[in-house]
Amino acid sequence: MTANSILSVRNLQKHFGGLKAIDTVSFEVNKGETLGVIGPNGAGKTTLFNTICGVYEPTAGEVLLGTQAIHGLKPHQIARLGVARTFQISHPFRDMTVLDNVIMAMGGSHYTGLKGIFSISRTHDNISKAEALLAKLHILAQRDKRAGDLSLGYMRRLEIARALALEPKLLLLDEPCAGLSHDATQEFIDIISQLKATGTTIMLVEHNMAIAMTVCDRLVVLNYGVKIAEGPPAAIKNNTLVIEAYLGRDDDIA
Ligand SMILES: Nc1ncnc2c1ncn2[C@@H]1O[C@H](COP(=O)(O)OP(=O)(O)O)[C@@H](O)[C@H]1O
Ligand SMILES: [Mg+2]
Repeated sequence: MTANSILSVRNLQKHFGGLKAIDTVSFEVNKGETLGVIGPNGAGKTTLFNTICGVYEPTAGEVLLGTQAIHGLKPHQIARLGVARTFQISHPFRDMTVLDNVIMAMGGSHYTGLKGIFSISRTHDNISKAEALLAKLHILAQRDKRAGDLSLGYMRRLEIARALALEPKLLLLDEPCAGLSHDATQEFIDIISQLKATGTTIMLVEHNMAIAMTVCDRLVVLNYGVKIAEGPPAAIKNNTLVIEAYLGRDDDIA
C-alpha cells in the first residue's frame, strides 16, 4: 500500500458458480486521483464495483479503506465509513424537491413513522450546504423541481450530489454517462473534472474509453475478470492487450 492510498484492493475474487467474474485483481486508489476501471462489456467492472461497496461478499481477497478491512461489511456500513456510491433515487424521493433530496442525504431529516413520511429540517445551514452541492453539480437552477421530473442527466447529477452529502473519502461512479446525449456527456465530463479539482477522490467504472481517457489520471483495465493493464491513459491507449481486448469483443474503442 502506498502512503497516499485511500482504497486498496488485494487479490480480489468474485465467482458466480464456475464463472470468475473477478479473478485475483489488485490495485490502489490514491488520495485525490480519479482512477478509471475500464474494459469491454462483461469484463467484470460492475461486479468489482458491487464487491467494493458491499453488495457482494468477495469469494476471496481483501478491500481496505485506509488500513481498515471493509470486505464482508454491509453496504450501509461501508457507506458510513466513507465510500459513497450513486443509487437510482427510490420512489418516495421522486415526489420531493431536488433541494430536499440533498438535505435528506445529509442526514437533515427524520422519519416520523407516520405513513412513511420524513420530516425535513430546512435550517439555514442545511439549505446553504445543499445549495453548495447543487451548484457543484450544476443543478442549482433545478433546486425547487420535483426530483421525479428531472431528465436522466440531471437525475444522475442529483444522485452524485446526494452521494457527496456525507463528505465521503471516495466516490464510486458506475458508467455515469450511459444513455446521455453528447452534450450532456460533455457537461458531465466538466463536472467530474471540477470535482477532481476540488479534491474529490473518484473511482470511475466506465465502458467508454474516450470518456475514461479524458477524465482519469490512471486506468485499470479488466478483461474476463482479469486485470490486463494499469497505467496513465496515454500508455493504456497504445497497449496491445487493451486494444485486442476491445476489438476482440467487437466493442467501440472510441
Ligand atoms: N449476479 C450475477 N450472477 C451471475 N453472473 C453474473 C452476475 N453479475 C454478473 N455476472 C457475470 O459476470 C461477468 C461480469 O459482468 P459485469 O460485472 O456486469 O461486467 P461489466 O460491468 O464489465 O459489463 C459477466 O459474464 C456477467 O454475465
Ligand atoms: Mg457494468
